[in-house]
Amino acid sequence: MCGIIGYVGPGPAAPAIVGGLQRLDYRGYDSAGIVVLDRGRFRVEKMPGKLENLLARLKASPLAGTVGLGHTRWATHGGPTQRNAHPHVSGNARVAVVHNGIIENHEALRRRLRARGYAFRSETDTEVIAHLIEDMHRGNPLETVRRAIAKLEGSFAIGVLFRDRPDVLIGARLNSPLLVGFGEGANFLASDAPAVLPLTRRVAYLEDRELAELTPGGVRIVAADGTPREPRITHITWDYASAAREGYPHFMLKEIHEQPRALRDTIRGRTDHSIPHFPELEIEPAKLKRIRRVVITACGTAAHAGLVAKYAFEELARVPTEVVLASEFRYGDPVIGRDTLAVAVTQSGETMDTLCAIREARARGALTLAVCNVVGSSIPRAVDGTLYTHAGPEIGVASTKAYTTQIAVLELLAVRLGMLRGALTREAARPLLRALERVPDAVEKALRCEAGVRTIARRYRGARNFMYIGRRYNFPNAYEGALKLKELSYIHAEGYGAGEMKHGPLALVDNTFPTVAIATAGRVYEKMLSNMKEIEARGGILISIANPGDARVRELSRHVIEVPETPELVSPMVTAVPLQLLAYHIAVALRRDVDKPRNLAKAVTVE
Ligand code: F6R
Repeated sequence: MCGIIGYVGPGPAAPAIVGGLQRLDYRGYDSAGIVVLDRGRFRVEKMPGKLENLLARLKASPLAGTVGLGHTRWATHGGPTQRNAHPHVSGNARVAVVHNGIIENHEALRRRLRARGYAFRSETDTEVIAHLIEDMHRGNPLETVRRAIAKLEGSFAIGVLFRDRPDVLIGARLNSPLLVGFGEGANFLASDAPAVLPLTRRVAYLEDRELAELTPGGVRIVAADGTPREPRITHITWDYASAAREGYPHFMLKEIHEQPRALRDTIRGRTDHSIPHFPELEIEPAKLKRIRRVVITACGTAAHAGLVAKYAFEELARVPTEVVLASEFRYGDPVIGRDTLAVAVTQSGETMDTLCAIREARARGALTLAVCNVVGSSIPRAVDGTLYTHAGPEIGVASTKAYTTQIAVLELLAVRLGMLRGALTREAARPLLRALERVPDAVEKALRCEAGVRTIARRYRGARNFMYIGRRYNFPNAYEGALKLKELSYIHAEGYGAGEMKHGPLALVDNTFPTVAIATAGRVYEKMLSNMKEIEARGGILISIANPGDARVRELSRHVIEVPETPELVSPMVTAVPLQLLAYHIAVALRRDVDKPRNLAKAVTVE
């Protein structure tokens, strides 16, 4: 999830672009860059790290030119270095490109372009686009980009400049957002509205596979086949702050709603030919095949994703798996050997406890792997290989989209390990991968429960305590639901395996005590129902998460929140949605600071 801004007009491009970048840095801040076309030459400045680094650079050497592009990067392919920063200029410096998204067939295109004499200077998938467009350019920029994007697979929003056409800026998109801003004598390209808000409030969002040709005098939009399209102009009425949240009142709510997209980006391209496919993983399959044991280490929400993965690793890969809180790992004298795969799960890649734990595992001879959301962060640099979640920057302190995408990656890994170890045949893997591919749609449908959840939240905002229960794959979600409620609303909550209630916590239940029960389809459904009956019989208030039309759950429950039925393996990604929404809406009803709960920080870089 990177930010794009483009300008073409009569005045200098750089100030408009810099202003846009300043309003876009919530989309990523690994590096920032700018290109302008000045007297027939591209002038590029790019710097790793925060935007301030680029601004300092521009102060020292200001840029002229009336057409240009800017980019703020959230790294996916290639670390957050200067070399990998955008814009990328083609081999003969005829084309400059900025890109948001992931080109899945970049390896094949790279091979083809290498054979045509192109040398690659970065590790990014974006550089492929620059060379490809140059290679295909025959004089008409819009037509060139139209033909070039037909060769790209994956997701992209791109801005393109051509050295031979200083009056033209081209934009195109597929599965990543891009809009055109209409100004007075100048026009703009941006990945979202905040970038252009002080410049114009008239924007047109491009549809998938549409292209836009911007000149100072006008904008032309065409479909993938070149047919002209009328721009659908929207007047933005929000202010800048809410535009950054795309109209959502909080980043957390935006991030909850982004989960279908985040999961699609994380899963797409990794389920090829019925085999989980991890092109970026630096660990050879032979090494993975040799492991006899998995130890997952993480903190908080990431540890809950690890607990879900334990079920998947043991069921699908038949490999003994242990989950150890990273803060305990080092001090527990863990039994780790060369046959151990140690997996660090982390959104930020900077959590000190997790970093120390995985270093310790590596020092003791384990093969180490990270599941991480931030490319180039400390934990990926400390391990043998990394699988990235493509969730995009998570700004809300409470983790949401990182959690569900961590589960997705870990379950893909479980299927891969199962196949490597001979525990799963290709035939057995196929329906599992299909279930994973379908999970973004199920999550999208689950989001429809929000209005009902909000009503429940308002009714129970005064409760002093909450219990969350689940079993098997949804047992870790009981912990996760309770954690979300605690950290956002400051209400005391506990997560329990539903079968444990009768061993103690049932004593807490009375007719004022709400229990959130996750009772979706799966091997433990009947058992879960029995545990819920034990609560109902004692007058407890059951708020249940169930599949549509489940009369048995409805009979026991005061409230039912329906989510689509899925195979049990993938259900935690779906049942997480109402849990996140319940915590969010209770916190809003209590007027808590949702995006920045008291006493907490997004990246915990102290032990
Ligand atoms: C809770 C939450 C935390 C993090 C934990 C680990 O909503 O966000 O519990 O999950 O601090 O952080 P990462 O994943 O960055 O290592």
